[in-house]
Amino acid sequence: MKLDIDYVRAQFDQLADDPEFTFASNAGGSYVCNQANQVLEHYNHHTRVQPYSRFSPSAEAGHAMDRAHAGWAEALNIRPSELTIGPSTSMNTYVMAQAIGDIWKPGDEIIVTNQDHEANSGVWRRKALEKGVTIRQWEVEPDTGLLNIESLFPLLRDNTRWVFFTHCSNVIGTVNPVAAIVKTIKSRSNACVFNDAVAYAPHHIPDLKALGVDGYAFSLYKVFGPHQGMLYVNKDIRGDLTSQAHYFNSGNPAKDFGPAGPQHAQIAGCAGVLDYFDELHQHHFGDSEKKRNSKMEDIHQLIVHHENQLAAPLLEFLHHHADVRLLGKTHTNDNDRAPTIAFQPLKQSAKSVAHKLQDEKIGTENGNFYAHRLISDLGMDPDDGVVRLSLVHYSNQDEVNRILRALDSAL
Ligand SMILES: Cc1ncc(COP(=O)(O)O)c(C=O)c1O
Repeated sequence: MKLDIDYVRAQFDQLADDPEFTFASNAGGSYVCNQANQVLEHYNHHTRVQPYSRFSPSAEAGHAMDRAHAGWAEALNIRPSELTIGPSTSMNTYVMAQAIGDIWKPGDEIIVTNQDHEANSGVWRRKALEKGVTIRQWEVEPDTGLLNIESLFPLLRDNTRWVFFTHCSNVIGTVNPVAAIVKTIKSRSNACVFNDAVAYAPHHIPDLKALGVDGYAFSLYKVFGPHQGMLYVNKDIRGDLTSQAHYFNSGNPAKDFGPAGPQHAQIAGCAGVLDYFDELHQHHFGDSEKKRNSKMEDIHQLIVHHENQLAAPLLEFLHHHADVRLLGKTHTNDNDRAPTIAFQPLKQSAKSVAHKLQDEKIGTENGNFYAHRLISDLGMDPDDGVVRLSLVHYSNQDEVNRILRALDSAL
């Protein structure tokens, strides 16, 4: 079965704004589905009061927030008490660095990568330095930017406390095999694992228990929804971490790692993304009693096939272009290549190519995308960085053709 792309595109009003514009900067933030906008609008028009009181709009507001919380927990196959909805992933990891790092002591070790966005790197490094903890870096291959599991083995020790890595880099685009990596880590050490999935979740909402991670974070404004950060912390380790809530809220699972006051309407709006996924599933597979996380797997099969078809011609073109250094995998054959495609132009600056593409109404950008360490370690100027073309499942073949034409003339 194929993804019904016309149906999909009809769920995103913004796609109709300018039919000649091609949005290829989705990894920076996606369009919001109509279902999420409807929930937000309803909340703001009818229930915009302090939630969780007994009076009518307040009770309805609380119910709308709880619906989002419970629904997302079901989608991720976790308990609601394991999910915090916070302001953003950077803020969530910042808070987690306090919660996790408070108990670190000299002699402990952590592993971070140079593939990650800084949100899953700097906070842990800073806390480790403060606590006298040894930082080991799992390094990417210097030509492709890919992480190789073999080079992780020698870094794992008895005193490794945490390993932090990305499910999919926002620049390299190749999906790291998280379940296999977690298995290896757990078989060789007692370390916990935290994943940044900000660049992965727009392509697949995974079953977190199957992945086996201890912590997991992604941002809903890149998954067709409001500007919120989803944070999973496994129930088995929560007791080992220090609560970051006001003292009288300590022990409240929704607040332990979410000290900011919740953004009520935005949280309620997160349920709208699930409404969209439910409708997408219903449209393709009919009525179903399946649980949400199983529906996500069905949807993923449709999306991965469609996204591979979008990425393949772009990868083919860039891979064979003499004036281009393409990062990450050069093909989609293994179903592990998100259509987040970054390249370094070899004969002109990334900025100049990005501007030429923008002049052709391609919404793309150049830069380091906060993967500053990665861009530097791959030998590029982090101020100029790479050109990044990032598509999602609502992108279509016409848009890919337009990008190919614009690339051909820009390069
Ligand atoms: C891979 C990755 N991780 C983390 C972040 C930070 O997310 P947020 O903007 O929600 O703080 C981003 C944002 O671009 C990202 O792309």
